Amino acid sequence: MNKIVVNGASGTLGKLVVSELLKTVAPENLTLITRSPDKLSDLAAKGVCVCRGDYRDPESLEAAYAGNDTMLLISSIMVGRRVQEHRNAIESAKKSGIKHIVYTSVAGVHPGNPTVSAGDHIESERDLIESGLSYTIFRDQTYSEMFTPMAQSALMGGVWYQVGDKGKIAPVSRQDIARCAAVCLQEPTKHYRVTYELTGPDLLGFREISRMFSTLYDRPIQYEILTPDEMHEKFASWGIGRDVQEDATNPGVFWGSDELVSAYVAFDEGYHNILSHHVEFITGQKPVSLQQLIEEDKAAL
Ligand SMILES: NC(=O)c1ccc[n+]([C@@H]2O[C@H](COP(=O)([O-])OP(=O)(O)OC[C@H]3O[C@@H](n4cnc5c(N)ncnc54)[C@H](OP(=O)(O)O)[C@@H]3O)[C@@H](O)[C@H]2O)c1
Repeated sequence: MNKIVVNGASGTLGKLVVSELLKTVAPENLTLITRSPDKLSDLAAKGVCVCRGDYRDPESLEAAYAGNDTMLLISSIMVGRRVQEHRNAIESAKKSGIKHIVYTSVAGVHPGNPTVSAGDHIESERDLIESGLSYTIFRDQTYSEMFTPMAQSALMGGVWYQVGDKGKIAPVSRQDIARCAAVCLQEPTKHYRVTYELTGPDLLGFREISRMFSTLYDRPIQYEILTPDEMHEKFASWGIGRDVQEDATNPGVFWGSDELVSAYVAFDEGYHNILSHHVEFITGQKPVSLQQLIEEDKAAL
């Protein structure tokens, strides 16, 4: 019997993974981790084990992971601090007898990648590989769901601002990542010690993406290239400071422009220029395209 534990189960990605798992996994074989078990009381009522666990409190993790075999470690959000949080989760998993961890890293992991947060994932991938546990690493491309919120200022102001014009990206939907996670968590030996690049089906330039929004919403959008310094000024004019702001509810404000602009530079330098067949290889299904997802977003508005 493969007993599965899901960290980050109350989050947007975690909820999708749990919903996929519950299609085939009996509730009693699933343990969900959250700092606030009340958030998952609906699932507890269905017979799923919901446990309090905090990446900053290893004892809570060891107790929550005990008795399980396979674990999903959804990366935490706080840049810098999360390296130790992930380390706590990996060490606690090892102590409590977990055999295999599926970890959500990020696309473009490379020592030269200038994105502020990329270094966290390099360290966490290394910690996982050196832990001696079996693992599957998902290098998730930028979520397709990020683009409709990102496009709002361009749709309202008529200008899409980007650092450079060379960057290409193959956005992937959270739903596809969740399907991949559900498969690998149920069949860990088939995905033993592998790193997957999870991308959507189309490699797109940002000018092309801006045109997609312009056509779909029937609004003119001009594409304007800024330098990194000008991009920081632009974010500042939208109320986004340079540092992470932990209490922010808007994700853009949360990350801060140091993270965002460094990611824009990484896009332009080609670190995200990756197209893989891994979603289809894992799930047997073609991933959802950005075009389809933003059409669904528009229909839902
Ligand atoms: N590829 C991309 O485009 C992209 C974009 C944004 C984010 N990400 C990454 O993907 C991850 C998941 O995204 P999401 O949209 O599902 O995030 P989300 O909705 O913000 O969920 C984050 C989850 O992390 C859990 N968490 C946070 N701090 C924790 C801690 N100290 N201990 C235990 N659990 C903790 C939260 O659980 P509780 O609050 O219930 O404890 C929550 O379930 C993010 O954390 C980030 O690393 C990727």
